[in-house]
Amino acid sequence: MLVSATEMLQKAVEGHYAVGQFNINNLEWTKSILQTAQELNSPVILGVSEGAGKYMTGFKTVAAMVSAMIDEMKITVPVALHLDHGTYDGCYKCIKAGFSSIMFDGSHYPIDENVEKTKELVKVAHAMGLSIEAEVGAIGGEEDGVVGMGECADPNECKMIADLGIDFLAAGIGNIHGKYPANWQGLSFETLAAIKEKTGDMPLVLHGGTGIPADMIKKAIDLGVAKINVNTECQLSFAAATRTYIEAGKDNQGKGYDPRKLLAPGAEAIKATVKEKMELFGSVGKA
Ligand code: 13P
Repeated sequence: MLVSATEMLQKAVEGHYAVGQFNINNLEWTKSILQTAQELNSPVILGVSEGAGKYMTGFKTVAAMVSAMIDEMKITVPVALHLDHGTYDGCYKCIKAGFSSIMFDGSHYPIDENVEKTKELVKVAHAMGLSIEAEVGAIGGEEDGVVGMGECADPNECKMIADLGIDFLAAGIGNIHGKYPANWQGLSFETLAAIKEKTGDMPLVLHGGTGIPADMIKKAIDLGVAKINVNTECQLSFAAATRTYIEAGKDNQGKGYDPRKLLAPGAEAIKATVKEKMELFGSVGKA
């Protein structure tokens, strides 16, 4: 069922595990993630970036597809449909489209403006029964071919934003989106501990889940991370499996060019990646 992410993440904090947010790009992605969550009896968050929303022709299409799939596939585990790194306007669009959760990323605004906008969106989201994530300290990643190092958020600013009544908080601790460069310094557990101390039981969100070693993931969960976002890793496994299929010439054998066959190995690869992450995050059996 489609639910807000509040309860599943509060339970995760209490139970010392994390719920995965897996970003979706199309029908195959959504189907693979939902199937895996159901098979493993795990709660799940489907993340939709504004770019992916546009690609899928708009947030209304996404919300309709996800709701219909939950129904047709008889998905009984809790599923949240969440806007990833939303702009102010994007948040309003997703609230209207029927999402069950939003992220307002005001990290690029001066802190006062981030506070004002987040405060307003908390009120609107909660009035409509949605959960809301906010961000402090930008999360790095590749921009124009340059891979930036992740910033570390200021714990006092984290407290200011957490006190606005948000449901979960994304705070930079040296994490970045996409693949980690060879000279990456690792997560700053010192920053994470300081943020945890200021924000108490607030579920913390770790973006850039792709490529973070398992021991760092486990330590981050011990220190209060209750939601981990994974996007690139599913894209890499989908691409690798599709490449293998085509390079083996399978698209030329029989009706191997049929999209239902051509996209099947990639869809299976996404399922394997999601399973591996749910096992690592500890959310299996927690629905
Ligand atoms: P990755 O693409 O690095 O897994 O990051 C996903 C993410 O944080 C989405 O917000």
